[in-house]
Amino acid sequence: MTKQEILHARRERLFPAELHYYGEPLVITHAKGAAVFDIDGKQYIDFFGGILVISVGHCNDEVNARIQRQLDTLAHTSTLFATQPPVELASKIARLSPGGKLAKCFFSNSGTEANEMAVLAARAATGASEIVALRYGYHGRSGLAMSMSGQSTWRVGTQPSPGFAFAHNAYCYRCPHGLEYPSCDVRCANDVEDVIRTQTSGRPAAFIAEPIQGAGGFITPPKEYFARVAEIVRRRGGLFIADEVQTAWGRTGTWFGIEHWGVQPDIITSAKGMGNGFPVAMTAVRADIADRVPKMTISTFGGSPLAAEAANAVIDYIEKHNLPAHAARQGAYLRERLERLKAQFPLIGDVRGMGLMQALELVKNRQSREPAVEETAKIMELGRERGILFGEGGLDGNVLRLAPPLTITRAEIDEFLSRLENSFAAIK
Ligand SMILES: Cc1ncc(COP(=O)(O)O)c(C=O)c1O
Repeated sequence: MTKQEILHARRERLFPAELHYYGEPLVITHAKGAAVFDIDGKQYIDFFGGILVISVGHCNDEVNARIQRQLDTLAHTSTLFATQPPVELASKIARLSPGGKLAKCFFSNSGTEANEMAVLAARAATGASEIVALRYGYHGRSGLAMSMSGQSTWRVGTQPSPGFAFAHNAYCYRCPHGLEYPSCDVRCANDVEDVIRTQTSGRPAAFIAEPIQGAGGFITPPKEYFARVAEIVRRRGGLFIADEVQTAWGRTGTWFGIEHWGVQPDIITSAKGMGNGFPVAMTAVRADIADRVPKMTISTFGGSPLAAEAANAVIDYIEKHNLPAHAARQGAYLRERLERLKAQFPLIGDVRGMGLMQALELVKNRQSREPAVEETAKIMELGRERGILFGEGGLDGNVLRLAPPLTITRAEIDEFLSRLENSFAAIK
């Protein structure tokens, strides 16, 4: 099909509710490593990886060879039968999980499903039902996951499910309490206690949060935040669920993002980078929690030999090449260069993130911090013209999200940054 035919068919045949980047969607035909090619043959450096999915590079040869082998051996059985790849995968996850404590897994196909199972398991294990989530959080697109998300943009078209309460997030750049870190003494963490006392029965089933809020604009809490929240939630009988759909698998410089805060979650959910493009998701929990999930449940495709082998191949590749450490090193370099960009362009109000998950929040004015929404859209277009891809995010859509494959090289980072700088210069 020609570009025009694809764009026309997309308009005619797909739900218009589906969001796309740019005035006119970019038609992509193929990709390799950190390079993406459009239908006109133009090459881009990919710093978004289809929303943090491409962890080990597009069309990774080692990973694809294992997927191909599995495809030719056994693709599907359903969870009604036993196969080797999912049990191997669950054992690997148990070993890598913080403290080696998340001994049992339920596999599914998307982050949304993983979070649905996390809530079900937390409710079953505690006998309580209420969930405390964070403002600016995003947990998926099912009715329940939307009701658990703290962004109006992503809560449309459904009747909200009851039983969710929202605490303030740790958004230091726009502190909900108008305070400054560290003299604030991380007041936002105490809001979880206030919310439990005033908006729940006092005994929640769980607290759920992304270690770094992804769609919210890579909002990164201070180092004391999650330990204090975990203490509050556990004292009230609730479990701690880390939604690591974006932050897991080395992205932030450690296997799981929550490790930076020294908290051992009771449940971790993940998807995205776990399959490098293959749909696979997990709900990893302590054994005693899994054992209390009532019978029966099923996921037709969840943990299929093919999906599980894709994840096994990705995780093995990350381990073999020590990509969490590589992400920490490359991320530190990227961060330092982004700080220099901030010094150069007043449009950049804040730089934040960890490892290879870094964001720039754009503001019209550094004093008022008014979100620079139109300018963000313009930078996206300017970047596209200059052959670089990155994400947009934040409640107001004024945050640029940078998340290249974990395999990114120094030369690719330098080239990306030079084109990004050029895009900022063009808007001045
Ligand atoms: C933190 C987080 N949780 C859950 C989800 C939902 O995942 P999925 O789109 O695979 O259902 C996303 C998707 O962007 C996410 O970023």
